[in-house]
Amino acid sequence: MKGLANFNGIARWYETLEAATFGTKLWKSRCAFLDELKTRRSALVLGDGDGRFTARLLAENPLVLVDAVDASVEMLRTLVQNAGERAGRVRIRLADAREWEPEGETYDLIVTHFFLDCLTTVEVAALAERLRKHVQPDALWVVSEFAIPDGWYGRLVAWPLVQALYLAFFVLTGLRVQRLPRSREVMEAAGFARIAERSFMGGLLQSELWRPEAR
Ligand SMILES: C[S@@+](CC[C@H](N)C(=O)[O-])C[C@H]1O[C@@H](n2cnc3c(N)ncnc32)[C@H](O)[C@@H]1O
Repeated sequence: MKGLANFNGIARWYETLEAATFGTKLWKSRCAFLDELKTRRSALVLGDGDGRFTARLLAENPLVLVDAVDASVEMLRTLVQNAGERAGRVRIRLADAREWEPEGETYDLIVTHFFLDCLTTVEVAALAERLRKHVQPDALWVVSEFAIPDGWYGRLVAWPLVQALYLAFFVLTGLRVQRLPRSREVMEAAGFARIAERSFMGGLLQSELWRPEAR
């Protein structure tokens, strides 16, 4: 799997690292649209890491079945632990999401929290085009990601912070991507439309809700 980052070494510490750096802000961003997800039945969660969001989704939505795709075996192990007694509703896929293709399933929910940031713009474009073939017409795609807002805050605070995060992930996981992908542009080109958004920390964190456009 060419250029794949390895998150195994930080799987156990991921939640602690997050709490030490961002407190509860990333969690708020992940849960921004949780209410809209409570009637979903078939979810694809890409790069969910330690699975805290999947665990919360399973708890809030007793009927949803989840396909969880991650390239880190340790992250997936933690995900199963966090899902606890609800793990029976999760199918684990140890795979590189840049190459993985669903086997005929269609989903009414896609979740990518702080995962697209691990990909290049070209990779997000290819992923969005592939996923477009596997979503139901009323599907939702919930995205959380870092962003660099316009203005002095973006230049002086958000940009250096994002670069520092990429450097930290390069050291800790070998992640080669060093700049945020232009996800919005390529998701729109693939046939998805943004229907809602919320931002946190002055625009550094973006939560977005997307849906496929009618064809
Ligand atoms: C920055 S973490 C985000 C974890 C979690 N979604 C969150 O909200 O914090 C990125 C996750 O994506 C996984 N990942 C990175 N690149 C991947 C790829 N190409 N295919 C599958 N998983 C990948 C990593 O193993 C890790 O669990």
